[in-house]
Amino acid sequence: MKICTIVGARPQFIKAAALSRVLRKEHIEILIHTGQHYDANMSDIFFEELQIPKPDYNLGISGGGHGKMTGEMLIKIEEVLIKEKPDMVVLYGDTNSTLAGAIAAVKLHIPICHVEAGNRLGTLSNPEEVNRILTDKVSAFLFCCVESAVEFLKAEGQTKNVYLVGDPMYDAFCFYRGRLNEYKSNINAFDFDNEKITIPENYYYLTCHRPENESEDKLFEILSAMNSLEYKTIYPVHPRNKEKIYSICKKNNFKNIILTLPVSYLTSIYLVSNCTKVVTDSGGVQREAFFAKKQCVTVFNYIAWPETMAGNCNQLASPQKDDILAKLNVKPEWKNSYEPFGDGKACEKIVSIINSVG
Ligand code: UD1
Ligand code: UDP
Repeated sequence: MKICTIVGARPQFIKAAALSRVLRKEHIEILIHTGQHYDANMSDIFFEELQIPKPDYNLGISGGGHGKMTGEMLIKIEEVLIKEKPDMVVLYGDTNSTLAGAIAAVKLHIPICHVEAGNRLGTLSNPEEVNRILTDKVSAFLFCCVESAVEFLKAEGQTKNVYLVGDPMYDAFCFYRGRLNEYKSNINAFDFDNEKITIPENYYYLTCHRPENESEDKLFEILSAMNSLEYKTIYPVHPRNKEKIYSICKKNNFKNIILTLPVSYLTSIYLVSNCTKVVTDSGGVQREAFFAKKQCVTVFNYIAWPETMAGNCNQLASPQKDDILAKLNVKPEWKNSYEPFGDGKACEKIVSIINSVG
């Protein structure tokens, strides 16, 4: 089959790296990059490091409001789909690139495979929830990472062509974690002046990029919690809040926090795997903490990945210093036999289902 994959944001490059490797053994893949993430260390670095084939199209669309970004993507994706006439479109997760791809494909009657279908927070105030619900509604094949996603879809009346396959992020984590030794020279973090940083022996790993946490007050609370810990914190900063974060840390002399440019995927999973604890608002990083058996505190109001919450391995905290510190002090209980994200072979399962229906 000829399959168009549409990606645009950092976590989608990682998921596509895992699935494309398997998909391309049996199918022709046309890769469309919307351009949503465009800085070298938010995009190119992933294609190079993970050896993702160069996109066949880069639409160069980024920034602006949700409507403008999604609308411009929709127009250009439609043009490409009309030209390429694929048998199927593969979409990942819940970004604006996902939604634009979904609207373009369904209106052209091209079946959509939605990878990472069914997750729900229960609020439309979260922009990704809107993208998830709308994409799920128009998808022909829904590939769920976890049981709870299947249950959410069932509660909405969607049971046809819903497949529990496991998490492609776990596939990627299993595949690359085993190779970190081979890639030692790729484990690098750089400060805002592009100077290489030495990773300390003990450290906390922080990532924080959600619009829900972007006010100065909330960022100040999160950063003061991290600054008060016994070890330094490594924090690769997403470009959306670079200036704010830099200015808060400088103004308050938060010397216990090492700010870096966004890091590569291998560096990020190295940092997760070797840190003391993780604090994040990222959907991907909270799962990776769980994969690496590292305690995680998620600074967010909603449970995104309920499976990670078992035994307090991941806990929600409000963006307040005291709450974050209190949650970091709770002792988690790991259940060794509990593997809710599959067996690291989600992508093989997805491709074998695609083969059987194609
Ligand atoms: C997007 C996704 C979010 C995902 C995140 C992954 C949506 C609605 N949100 O959020 O689900 O968790 O990606 O990282 O799609 N910017 C740059 N350089 C870049 C990319 C972004 O400077 O390479 C800046 C731009 O000013 C842009 C802002 O960051 O306006 C926000 O980027 P955007 O893609 O709109 O949303 P994310 O916060 O990255
Ligand atoms: N990540 C990365 N570099 C960074 C921060 C995160 O490679 O500087 C990786 C992280 O390990 C995970 C993915 O990016 O694999 C998560 O993406 P992000 O947090 O941007 O989005 P979300 O998962 O919240 O949608």
